[in-house]
Amino acid sequence: MTLDLAQLRSVQHFAQAFKAKNVPLHVLVCNAAAFALPWSLTKDGLETTFQVNHLGHFYLVQLLQDVLCRSAPARVVVVSSESHRFTDINDSSKNLDFSRLSPSKNDYWAMLAYNRSKLCNILFSNELHRRLSPRGVTSNAVHPGNMMYSSLHRHWWVYTLLFTLARPFTKSMTRKALLLVPLLIDAHSGNDGSVSVPESLILPAKFKHKDIVYESE
Ligand SMILES: NC(=O)c1ccc[n+]([C@@H]2O[C@H](COP(=O)([O-])OP(=O)(O)OC[C@H]3O[C@@H](n4cnc5c(N)ncnc54)[C@H](OP(=O)(O)O)[C@@H]3O)[C@@H](O)[C@H]2O)c1
Repeated sequence: MTLDLAQLRSVQHFAQAFKAKNVPLHVLVCNAAAFALPWSLTKDGLETTFQVNHLGHFYLVQLLQDVLCRSAPARVVVVSSESHRFTDINDSSKNLDFSRLSPSKNDYWAMLAYNRSKLCNILFSNELHRRLSPRGVTSNAVHPGNMMYSSLHRHWWVYTLLFTLARPFTKSMTRKALLLVPLLIDAHSGNDGSVSVPESLILPAKFKHKDIVYESE
């Protein structure tokens, strides 16, 4: 089964193909992401980082929501990042600014687009948890660690250099991120979303981001 999060049609096909298998879905991990992309629009007309990192996952979970609920206990894990703190998606009147989610080429900065998509991940996870936890489907947003060597940096050589330089110092974080594994593989460890993984890796359901308090209630 293939899934291209940059195409809503591909997400649809993937969800249909999964449903056709008629198997339960206990854990859905929204892990895929793109980082440091040059500006581009997807076939759906949206900025690519936003669509791959947030909207594609959001759409996939919507399409598979009925399967998740039927499979309860079930869990969605959204892999976000602490970097969500360094951005904002509101305008000066504190309303959601849609142009920040999918910016034009002139307003685009790759790092900011990534951080905003990671903020969307958390907001999405919290709201999903609020809506579905009464039906046995929990959702957690997690932070796997900082600058862990993966292929995330591949789109710009400067980041490749930085990640390579940081690599000797981030090995312990990689080990720490492994502590997330129980959360990723076990939907049965409590239907309130509570699991025995380090608190520092779980992005809280209630947190203050600049002037806005995002809550899951
Ligand atoms: N590495 C870090 O320091 C760090 C820090 C904080 C948070 N995170 C988060 O951790 C998660 C995993 O990142 P990683 O570091 O493991 O990076 P990675 O090695 O680059 O993994 C990202 C994955 O996303 C997939 N992907 C990219 N575009 C896609 C698309 N259009 N459709 C479907 N899949 C797509 C990639 O598949 P292909 O390889 O096939 O393209 C790859 O498997 C991400 O959500 C990232 O934001 C990472």
